[in-house]
Amino acid sequence: MTLKTDVIIDHELCTGCGACVRDCSKLNLELRDGKAVVLSSCFKCGHCVAICPEGAPSLPCYADVPVEYDPATFDLPTENIINSVKFRRSIRAFKDEPISMEHLRLLIEAGGHMPTAKNTQMNRFDFVQDSLPEFRELIWSWLEDVYETDRIMPIPVDVLSGFIARKRTDPKDDYFFRNAPAVLFIESVDPLDAGLAAASIEMVARSLGIGVLYNGFLQRIVAACPQARAYFDMSDERGLNACMLLGYQARHYVRTAPRRYPSVILR
Ligand SMILES: Cc1cc2nc3c(=O)[nH]c(=O)nc-3n(C[C@H](O)[C@H](O)[C@H](O)COP(=O)(O)O)c2cc1C
Repeated sequence: MTLKTDVIIDHELCTGCGACVRDCSKLNLELRDGKAVVLSSCFKCGHCVAICPEGAPSLPCYADVPVEYDPATFDLPTENIINSVKFRRSIRAFKDEPISMEHLRLLIEAGGHMPTAKNTQMNRFDFVQDSLPEFRELIWSWLEDVYETDRIMPIPVDVLSGFIARKRTDPKDDYFFRNAPAVLFIESVDPLDAGLAAASIEMVARSLGIGVLYNGFLQRIVAACPQARAYFDMSDERGLNACMLLGYQARHYVRTAPRRYPSVILR
């Protein structure tokens, strides 16, 4: 019996071409009497759904509806892709305007479609916007407390003391949150899963006028703060592997930034 959550092949549609059988990385499909059949439970990568010319396989466990390939809306010229990659910038100045729910939906869609190791799709996207003022307060009061009581610091003490001093002088001078209207935290099993999701979210964000700042300092602070861990219920095997400030961009660039040529070894 095929489990409800596994691949289902519609034998009315299947022509027995074998495309799904050849592309199944788990060798979980075979042709019998000219029709593809599912052998056992698989890790639901969806390749059979994506490759079948007739649309015979389906994965009822996913609500996501596959989109038919159309070169007009799927393909980008290489020059545009490379320019887009080179033109992305860390954004540190944001408009005082919340991220719309429609834009958030697109960002999460972009993150959710990136690959994950073993196709676990276990990334959790913690989007903090409405409750950001309280969350910011929670983090800053913990930092002040850690600093005053001289405990182990999540970031270098001279860095922390400088930013605490600045914030005490001007409460709006917040180096860690930079007055961004939202922060996205990505918790993942494999650190690369979160990194890949973050990169695609950043590219889609840019197309919507939303700037991103990967914030390594804030990530380390939140990961070390027990109250923040409780706030996010970080009790399972996922680690906090990406922290992104998000907001509509208040500053714009007119060219790409120069870069060192990457170290490349040809063997
Ligand atoms: C993992 C990661 C962590 C980062 N953490 C911070 C940070 O804590 N604060 C900050 O201002 N920028 C941070 N950045 C941004 C880098 O400083 C920035 O990418 C680099 O200076 C190049 O500028 P660009 O992103 O505009 O090309 C981080 C970037 C990455 C990839």
